Amino acid sequence: MFVFGQQRFFERCRARYGPTFSLRVPTLPPIVVFSDESSVREIFSCRPEDVSVGAALDWMHPFVGRGSLLLKDGEPHRRERRLLMPPFHHSRMASYGVAIRDIARDAMRAWPLDRPFAIEPAARSITLDIILHTVFGVDGSEREELRRALMDLFEDFSVFNLVPALRADLGTLTPWGRFLAHRATLDRLLLRLICQRRRERDAERDDVLAMLLDARHEDGSPMRDEELRDELVTLVSAGHETSTAALAWAFQCLAHHPEAQARASAELESAPDRLEGLGWMDAVVKETLRRHAVFPLVARVLVRPQTIGGWALPEGTLVYVSIHLTHRNPSLWPEPERFDPSRFLDAAPRPFAFVPFGGGSRRCIGKAYALFEMRLIVAEALRRFRIVSTGAPEAAVSRGFTLAPANGAVVRLHARHPARAGRRHRGLHVAHGGEASPERAGSNFGGSHVDA
Ligand code: HEM
Repeated sequence: MFVFGQQRFFERCRARYGPTFSLRVPTLPPIVVFSDESSVREIFSCRPEDVSVGAALDWMHPFVGRGSLLLKDGEPHRRERRLLMPPFHHSRMASYGVAIRDIARDAMRAWPLDRPFAIEPAARSITLDIILHTVFGVDGSEREELRRALMDLFEDFSVFNLVPALRADLGTLTPWGRFLAHRATLDRLLLRLICQRRRERDAERDDVLAMLLDARHEDGSPMRDEELRDELVTLVSAGHETSTAALAWAFQCLAHHPEAQARASAELESAPDRLEGLGWMDAVVKETLRRHAVFPLVARVLVRPQTIGGWALPEGTLVYVSIHLTHRNPSLWPEPERFDPSRFLDAAPRPFAFVPFGGGSRRCIGKAYALFEMRLIVAEALRRFRIVSTGAPEAAVSRGFTLAPANGAVVRLHARHPARAGRRHRGLHVAHGGEASPERAGSNFGGSHVDA
């Protein structure tokens, strides 16, 4: 955990020692940090049996449960990923599009105009609702109940809970006691949801939980209730803060680069009903993720000795790919501090120079989902608002295991079409969890139909 707040320190190490350097941190094994393209390729190409991730993330088990994908390695990890991947394949995004767009649209109607407004809390609320709808398949009062339980668990989490010796359960008087109480509430709601969904099998459902209930292990058995619980909490833990921080950075970048924003808005005006072919918008999203690595590093523990970047490293070494430094490596990205979406316009990024979602057998399973969600939400905002900066760009601070803008990405929003601001949208409004409207059935999200 200590490393997430240490990006400036990493930058100083890189300036002094080059793209590869080692660290000694009390209580941790020897650490080697890499940020050059060929070492990143070597690390992400390691055979799954030669590296462990579960060992580096073991501290997360009280949250995500022992059955979580995050804590598995080798063959059990491969098998679990095979079950979890299909709902996140990019061909599935079309089915989530209308809901994502409608949740964002409903929330943005309440965003204040012409005064400073912190995007991050507002984005957090949107991304949580989106996960609850598209992953858990819940709406209305059920969504509110689960939302409260998740927020209690996340917001009340204390660093003391990470140290086993400090985990004293004296009821709600102690951080650990509160954590256990919040977790018990969440588990009760999740197990109730899973049982109810097993009882009422509904072939029309297209949320992630519905697909996981139908998924089968290689021996033909379904996922057990506890397994489903652990993976649902894993998905919300891995997908919620990351998407929130990425959106906050996107708004900050657009506010500070009015020319990039004007080009994105013009592109949207010229393609009023689609998200397909929005090359500039796509480039803005990718450049945001390059410039601000919300997940600044990924870790692998060597299970066997390995040579990486020409360095012979013993078993037990903690190997970091610094996404933050790789994305700022001037030999890969000229003028790396400059926000310049045109880097992504004409050519696909080199796969081991642009790694916001990690790589290899552990690459983020939510990549297509996260990119799709970002494009939809940013497009929705730009159709409604002009985003204006209120001061100097905010520095990055660590929020859990992500890096987010220090003050929550404060911007000022001006109505782009004042006559339309606040007007309720007609057509294509889908009551979440209700019957799909005819527009939904015929809508073209992959190349989403967006008609604000
Ligand atoms: C902009 C948003 C996101 C970013 C930047 C991001 C980034 C990452 C990174 C860097 C990793 C580690 C990869 C590695 O070790 O090589 C990861 C893993 C993971 N992410 Fe994401 N993520 C995002 C959104 C999501 C979403 C929306 C979901 C699901 C709803 C998700 C689910 C996961 C899962 C389950 C893993 C673990 C994969 C494994 O261990 O096999 N992520 N993500």
